[in-house]
Amino acid sequence: MRKVEELASSIKDAITIPIVIQEVLELTASKDANARAISKAISHDPILSAKVLKTVNSSFFGFIFKTGDIRDAVVRLGVKQIRSITVAMSIGKLFDGGESLGGYSRLGVWEHSLAVGVMCELVTKICGCPEAKPLSSDAMLTGVLHDIGIILAEQTLKKEYHQVLAISKEEHIPLHLAEKRALGFSHAELASEVLKRWRLPKPIYEGVRVHHDKELEHANLLGKICTMSEYLTAARKIGFPDLTVVPRDSFGHLQLSLGLVGKKVANLRSRFDARMAEAQELFQGAAAV
Ligand SMILES: [Fe+2]
Ligand SMILES: [Fe+2]
Repeated sequence: MRKVEELASSIKDAITIPIVIQEVLELTASKDANARAISKAISHDPILSAKVLKTVNSSFFGFIFKTGDIRDAVVRLGVKQIRSITVAMSIGKLFDGGESLGGYSRLGVWEHSLAVGVMCELVTKICGCPEAKPLSSDAMLTGVLHDIGIILAEQTLKKEYHQVLAISKEEHIPLHLAEKRALGFSHAELASEVLKRWRLPKPIYEGVRVHHDKELEHANLLGKICTMSEYLTAARKIGFPDLTVVPRDSFGHLQLSLGLVGKKVANLRSRFDARMAEAQELFQGAAAV
């Protein structure tokens, strides 16, 4: 077994996702996923129920009429959105606490991840790629989860990972390259292996795996959206960034394949701040934001 797989297996045993989220993942993975079964599972957890109601009634979704009924909330949000929201809320606590090391903090990674998630969602709505349109909630979850490998490595490897952070800072090299040199794998690979074991959908963990690849021609759509979103949010300098330098040709190909041409990029940037503010309000407390 490779080192990254060994670590992912030990993380899966040590950091378990709540049973109710596992149930939601099982139910939403099925082709026959139905609102009744999903709302029944959520109803068994009063804290999650309250979060789902807060979500459906938030400005992020903008429904005119409020609801106090879980089944109604599940129907309104839809199966994929429920999966994204419940998983994102349940992993938020992993970003809580910890010490600040140089420019790194767990909260900084959370803020960066949320920003990339918000941009991923906007990209699916604004880009000229028809296949991306139905993926908005999966894309947002991919963005929120894309750097969870940093958090998982830092929490489990501790001093060994602090050295990785120091190498990246002192030598001015991207974090994933410092990880490759010191550990033999990157946080993108680690996250992908853990998300697979947590039974997240394959397009999501595959998208997370490629987010630092230089060649994205063969990456899946969520991977392309996530990488592009990381670029588009970089100028905002939100939280702890971990950008890869993608060669100009690859970037041009990425832009074309997502149909992000003309005024679409400017349009994305102008809509980002308002959407980010709604997301921060929605996820307030998820990682002590
Ligand atoms: Fe990353
Ligand atoms: Fe990132």
